[in-house]
Amino acid sequence: MTSVASIELAEGVASTTRPEVDDLSLGIVGAGKFGTTLARAAVAAGYDVAISGSGPAGDIALTIDVLAAGTRAATTDEVVRHADIVVLAVPTHRFRELGSDLFAGKILIDATNYWEPVDGHDPELTAAPGGTSTIVQEHFPSARVVKSLNQLGYHQLQEHQRPKGAPDRIAIGAAGDDHLAVRQVMRLLDRLGFDPVDAGPLNNGLPLEPDGSPIATTYSADELSKLVTR
Ligand SMILES: NC(=O)c1ccc[n+]([C@@H]2O[C@H](COP(=O)([O-])OP(=O)(O)OC[C@H]3O[C@@H](n4cnc5c(N)ncnc54)[C@H](OP(=O)(O)O)[C@@H]3O)[C@@H](O)[C@H]2O)c1
Repeated sequence: MTSVASIELAEGVASTTRPEVDDLSLGIVGAGKFGTTLARAAVAAGYDVAISGSGPAGDIALTIDVLAAGTRAATTDEVVRHADIVVLAVPTHRFRELGSDLFAGKILIDATNYWEPVDGHDPELTAAPGGTSTIVQEHFPSARVVKSLNQLGYHQLQEHQRPKGAPDRIAIGAAGDDHLAVRQVMRLLDRLGFDPVDAGPLNNGLPLEPDGSPIATTYSADELSKLVTR
């Protein structure tokens, strides 16, 4: 598992041979409670954010002005063109409405959680032994899916952002099969104000999923690293 220090070390080594472009563009598909909260956090962290709902950009323009100032309301196609990292923040029972090739080549952060009372009974998601993001990856085979940002309630995402090194900084995991994609997501998490934890391959996603508690348990980086390696 990778720590923040080892990402920085790896990036330091990489930068001696190939300077990395610091891409601060982010796309968010889903302009609800979670998407707009994340958008505010990303703007505060210096990102250029485009966000979409299920319809035309005009439908969410007022919401975005009020709840996520500094973000651009867009269509989903525009969001995908805007950034190499796109966050999937639609209700879980609606992700299959999106075309299978929509996110081709993009890093797709799957922030969705399946919850039957809200999403209805979905046999495929219920049975997924490696977590629901494996089903999302199957639906979007050309996307580089990373399961992340799903662990916390939107209000926790807002309340727990801390500068690097703060003693009460909490952790967020990132699980995926594309290591470069996971590393890029970990950099995003760090910039948003969380200690990133490499949670291993995508089918190790279950420990990152909600455990049924009304308020999600928060973990330090050490605690979360232990949880995902159990
Ligand atoms: N709420 C949380 O605390 C939280 C925390 C972690 C993860 N999550 C996950 O994040 C996802 C969103 O949750 P939420 O609470 O933000 O839901 P929400 O408030 O109901 O918002 C959902 C948003 O997704 C949009 N949407 C629906 N279908 C779409 C489509 N086909 N294409 C583009 N946009 C679409 C909706 O737009 P329209 O209004 O136009 O339909 C709406 O803007 C869920 O999967 C949830 O499990 C939520």
